This record gives sequence, structure tokens and C-alpha cells, in this order.
Amino acid sequence: MADERHVEDLIKKLTEEHENKKFDRRSFLRGTGKIAGLSLGAVLAQSIGGFEVNAAPKFESYPFTLGVASGDPLSDGVVLWTRLAPDPLNGGGMKRQAVPVRWEIAKDERFRNIVQKGTELARPDLGHSVHVEVTGLKPNHVYYYRFKSGYELSPVGRTKTLPAPGASVKELKFAFASCQQYEHGFYTAYKHMAEEDLDLVFHLGDYIYEYGPNEYVAATGNVRTHSSAEIMSLNDYRNRHAQYRSDANLKAAHAAFPWVVTWDDHEVENNYANNIPEKGQSPEAFIIRRAAAYQAYYEHMPLRKSSLPNGPDMQLYRHFDYGDLASFNVLDTRQFRSDQANGDGNKPPSEESLDPRRTLMGQEQEQWLFNNLSASKAHWNVMAQQIFFSQWNFGTKAAPVYSMDSWDGYPAQRQRVLDFVKSKNLNNLIVLTGDVHANWANNLLINFDDPNSKVFGVEFVGTSITSGGNGADKRKDTDHILEQNPHIKFFNDYRGYVRCRVTPAQWQADYRVVPYVTEPGASVSTRASFVYQKDQMGLKKVASAMVAHGMKMSEQVEEDRFTAHTHAHKKQIQQKREKVEQ
Ligand SMILES: [Fe+2]
Repeated sequence: MADERHVEDLIKKLTEEHENKKFDRRSFLRGTGKIAGLSLGAVLAQSIGGFEVNAAPKFESYPFTLGVASGDPLSDGVVLWTRLAPDPLNGGGMKRQAVPVRWEIAKDERFRNIVQKGTELARPDLGHSVHVEVTGLKPNHVYYYRFKSGYELSPVGRTKTLPAPGASVKELKFAFASCQQYEHGFYTAYKHMAEEDLDLVFHLGDYIYEYGPNEYVAATGNVRTHSSAEIMSLNDYRNRHAQYRSDANLKAAHAAFPWVVTWDDHEVENNYANNIPEKGQSPEAFIIRRAAAYQAYYEHMPLRKSSLPNGPDMQLYRHFDYGDLASFNVLDTRQFRSDQANGDGNKPPSEESLDPRRTLMGQEQEQWLFNNLSASKAHWNVMAQQIFFSQWNFGTKAAPVYSMDSWDGYPAQRQRVLDFVKSKNLNNLIVLTGDVHANWANNLLINFDDPNSKVFGVEFVGTSITSGGNGADKRKDTDHILEQNPHIKFFNDYRGYVRCRVTPAQWQADYRVVPYVTEPGASVSTRASFVYQKDQMGLKKVASAMVAHGMKMSEQVEEDRFTAHTHAHKKQIQQKREKVEQ
């Protein structure tokens, strides 16, 4: 308890420090980021928010190396993002000066019909990132945007606003992705995603990985290399985000659609829970690390100022209505969760894991979710989140084994969701999941132990973009898992993303896969398509096709992912010990 209090005090102190000094969060939120009226013709040394402003910057090299992005769309606006980083892998390469960045948003790609423009300051305390919250746009409209700083012009991005609140919407097409370990492969899946016809993209976490070079090794080997040792400081996290974001395919997917992002664990550290690190770091050091990781995440994502970190805290769970079609609840299952039970890993349930006080979302977020579900009149209610929601037994009925990091490690939290669903008699809940580096499709049952109980929705678990390497069609333990979990209807281990086509009556998910990621150039195909029509039939497979030239079986088992992380962690500890000894 004393320890906990000590950590609480530290969080408070960090929060105050960030609020008052380093971050100048309050004045930032009051809008000092905007510099309307600043004369841009002259070289101007003017102090805004404590920084000298260089109004006519000259860049040693191209500053828009990380591309452009848009995100968190509303029916009348969207966030436009970029970051000035002429030397992206070495802290960005900008002087400690604020630099004005002009932005334009137009109806056409050639910017003949500009609907709005303005100037925003790229500030050194936010890594020279720019987050423009455009308002006054038309609902359900496509727009094009770009930035200019000094004489340099950014690439053009395309974005789209959401339909008007409550509008009768006939169709939504979106994709979701997760888990993009840079070293494990090429982002070919993003190249294909960028060519899809989509309204929106969701990213469900593991956008970056924190490991040093070749600490976390894919079964098919690592084909790219992290540019620095395990990331700890703000500068480290910025450089890692920049390395990932320098990838042309990832930039293309960001430039093509608005994204709604949420994190999992690797944006900070493998399997962290709230303020509890994996192992080998003090809680004090970890909280400072978490603050750095959250800030770098904000700096690189097209998030609203409402998600600006407050010391080690950040508001990431949020809600989006897609007209009357879908109500999206984007969850944060890392920041507020209880520590993993039974020492983490895949374990039998225990008194500890069954403890009803355990939480994944924290009480506030849980209440927020239930309020949203109660208020929703949408055809579909969605939980866009990180971790496997359905019961997922790796053992047998007599001797179950569950993942302690997933909802199975927090059964009381899941039961509260099931009880709520039951009390409202819902049949339209869709759970979108990442984390586990494989495709799964699950019927959501009101009682997972009774295969005949009510189907109240479905869970689509999307595979990784690269994490885990090339993958296969099936793993060694797939048949056993499918046999032990009759509500799980599909498994596939190739890399890719999930494309969804949603209408009022039907939710279709297409599992888009590439046969390899260790070389560029793989083609994309749909391994299987499932529909759910809000009935007791649950998931129906409507299409299925083998992947050309792909391996059909691998010697891997589900547990291997956990083992690979454990190996990576051992290497980290070894590295640190060596560092200390030197
Ligand atoms: Fe992952």
C-alpha cells in the first residue's frame, strides 16, 4: 500500500510539473498553438508559449519526411496532422524554435477549390508536430489537405468527414489493423489497404514496438532493424515513431483515409498494466517512461487536443457515431487495468484471476461504455479495442488454460459486459480486436460455456500487419483450439488487415491477407468472408479462398508469441546488465 501511495504521489507531481512548466498544457489548450495574424513574410523573432518563433524557416533537408495524416473525424471536422522532421531518426533535426506551418483543405486534389486555410505553430515541446482541428466542413464529404512551411510543401492527404448525427446511412466501408513490428516484415498490407475504397481506418494498437534491434525475432527472421536500443526516453520514443512512420506504405495508408487510433501495450512496453511495468524497472522509472511514451504517441497520431497527455495520463477512450448506422466505442484497456493475474502468460484460472474487483477498463471507462450502449439507437454497437474478448481456452473443458493478458484474465470485467448486454437484450454488438497476430472470428455468446446460449454479436479479431513474420494458414494447435471453443469459427495466421462492409441489416468482414512479409511485393487476397445478421445463426462464412503459394501449416503454437516476448525481455535485461557493468 505504501508503495502504491508513493506511486500515486509521483503521478501527481509529474502531472503538476507537466501542467505548469515543461508542457505549458493550459496555455496550449487555450489556443496559443494558433498564430492567426502572424506576419509570415519576415524573419520574426517573437516569443509564443516561451519559444522563439522562426516565421521564415529554411530547412537543411525536406521536413515532411513522416508524411501527413488525418483522424478522429466528426460530421463537421477532422484533425489534420504532420510533423516537421528533416532528420527523423535523430530527434527530428529541428532547432528549439517554434515554426509556423500553413495548412489548406480543399474539395479537389489540385487545390483549386480551397474551403479553409490557416496557420498552426509546430512547437519544439511537442516534437514540431502539428494537429489542426478543422471545423465547419460538410458531413460525409471527401476533402484533400496539405501543409507548407518555409518554401517546403507536404504531400497531399485525402480525408472524409462522418455522416451527420442521426443521418440514415446505408453503408460504411472501413478497415482495421494492428501490430506492425517493423523488423518482422514489410508493410505490404498497408500498400494494399491504401488502394481500397474506404471511409475510415481503425488502428487497434501495437503501432510501434519498444524493443532494441533484433530482441523480438519473428519465426521467419527479422528483415529490418530498429535504429536504437530499447526505447525509454521521449527522444527514443520520438525516433522510434519516426522510423516506423518513414515507411512509404504506412504513409500512403495514412494519407488515403482518416484514422481512428488506440494503443495496446507496445506503444509503451510489453504487457504493462496501468503503472506496473513488465519487469526489471522500478514503478517510478516506469511512470516517467509512460509519460514519455504517451507524449510521443500523441505527437505522432492525428488526435484531438482532448487527448493531449497530462503528465503520465492521457484520454484515449472516445466515441464516434457513424450516422444511425454504427456507434463506435474506442477503448483503452491498458492505462487503467489491474495487473495481470498469475504472473501473466497462459495459465489456468485462479482465485486471483477470478477476483471480481479486477478491472480492464477502470470504473469510469466502464460506466462511460455502459452509458454509450444505453443511449445508442444505432443499428450496430461497436467496441474497437485491443485484446481477445471471447473465451479462448487453450486447455480442455476439464482443465482450462487462458491468456492472463486478455479478457479471459479479467473474467469479472467481461461478465459485467455480458450482464449489461443481457439486461438490454442486445444482439448487435461487434467487437473489433487486435493484439494476437492472427485472424479469428468468434460468435459472442451470453454464456461462453454453453454453446447453445444466445448469440448477441460477433468478434472479429484482425491479424497483424507484420508481427510474427510470414505466418501460415494454420498452426499446430489450431484444430485443438477450434475443437475446445465451438463459438470460434475461423482461424488464419497470415498477415494483413480486416475490411468491413456494414449495412443496417448485415456486418460483413473480409479477412484480407498477404502470403509473405519478409520480402516486399506480395499480392493481397481475401482468405475468407463472414457475415453476421443479428440472428441466432451467428457468423456465416460467405466466401473462402486459399492464399496463392502460401504455406498451409506451421509448427508454431499460440504460446510461441508469449515465448518470443519472453526471449526478447531476457535480451533486454542482459543488455541493461551489460550497460551497468560498462
Ligand atoms: Fe502485437
